[in-house]
Amino acid sequence: MNVGPTSAHIALLPGDGIGPEVIAAAVECLQAVSAIYGFRLSFSEHPIGGCAIDACGAALPEATRLACLASDAVLLGAVGGPKWSDPRAPVRPEQGLLSLRAAMGVYANIRPVQVHPRVAQYSPLRAERLRQVDFVFVRELTGGIYFGEKQRENGVASDLCRYSSMEIERVLRRAFELARHRRRKLTSVDKANVLETSRLWRETAQRLASEYADVQLEHQLVDSMAMLLLTRPSSFDVIVSENLFGDILTDEAAAVAGSLGLLPSASLGEGPRGLYEPIHGSAPDIAGLGIANPSGAIASAAMLLRHSLGMGAAASALESALWLALDEGALTPDVGGHHSTAELASAVTGHLWSQSAVDASVARA
Ligand code: NAD
Ligand code: IPM
Ligand code: MN
Repeated sequence: MNVGPTSAHIALLPGDGIGPEVIAAAVECLQAVSAIYGFRLSFSEHPIGGCAIDACGAALPEATRLACLASDAVLLGAVGGPKWSDPRAPVRPEQGLLSLRAAMGVYANIRPVQVHPRVAQYSPLRAERLRQVDFVFVRELTGGIYFGEKQRENGVASDLCRYSSMEIERVLRRAFELARHRRRKLTSVDKANVLETSRLWRETAQRLASEYADVQLEHQLVDSMAMLLLTRPSSFDVIVSENLFGDILTDEAAAVAGSLGLLPSASLGEGPRGLYEPIHGSAPDIAGLGIANPSGAIASAAMLLRHSLGMGAAASALESALWLALDEGALTPDVGGHHSTAELASAVTGHLWSQSAVDASVARA
């Protein structure tokens, strides 16, 4: 049942490289969903990352930050690229994204992973290992080494990794709750044999476990977890980790699923407003060719409908339309096909419209 608003405003941040290409595809899908489900969606577009540095010298312009905070949800493409990658540059595109995550307070980054049978052959794993892979990664997003003090002096550099128990507890609770509504298994990833932040992480997970007695908690060290994601990916349900471990392990998970272009994400804080982005980057090697896989962006738009707008039915309809489009072979080159970004988007909207026609005729009968 949809309990969402009758209208909503989405701030679009296409960013750099393939960002604008995959966001155009996702917006086309959102427009179709809004027409079919009869609610009004308005969009405004704002610069972030490299294009914002070029336009006004800041990776997150103040006007962009304010527009995001005034929106119901933010949909972002990707930031960065070789043009802005000089290590001595005073400002980098990626800082814009990190500042936005902090400004929105979106500390829990949800990255679901499933394997579509049509693209499974592009996974480096054998088919039997991919059967029943269905897990969700919860990555802490606004703390840890990403946000600790950075220093460089006399040829010595350091990045501080810092976590408070409050920061750890709130993201772990999110993961426990999610596990409770799935298969009730939670894998907490750390490096408690070496890092003090990881020992605090493990202690906190252990303490919370008694409140979530219905959830089976296990701990894995991050190095071994990198191996287990390849050897038995179907054994995981919900996986939770600190920021940097989650960044690395989810790119590995995307390769397991078949392509980095497939995975969506939702970054959530306390309220309904969220930041939604595919997990991939600006893919400078294919930017401008119109062949980027928009699946991750489209699936992120579905997460936006579900988590920020309360439109669960519309979100599921969009997810199944994407699944059907892949089923029928509307595949971009990263997963062995010849379809363009725009062609995959049209295949998805085609399925949305034909599903709604079926629903309407069932309702009339
Ligand atoms: P990348 O994710 O941009 O690309 C890695 C590889 O995956 C490339 O070969 C690329 O062509 C492919 N790929 C990625 N997305 C794809 C898609 N949708 N369809 C088809 N193929 C796809 O990672 P990178 O090359 O290491 O980074 C490039 C830039 O992107 C860097 O500046 C990095 O900081 C930035 N980046 C941004 C984000 C973000 O904005 N959320 C995420 C990751 C990387
Ligand atoms: C991601 C990206 C970002 C991160 C970069 C671009 C700052 O890799 O969203 O996964 O490391 O969080
Ligand atoms: Mn990443």
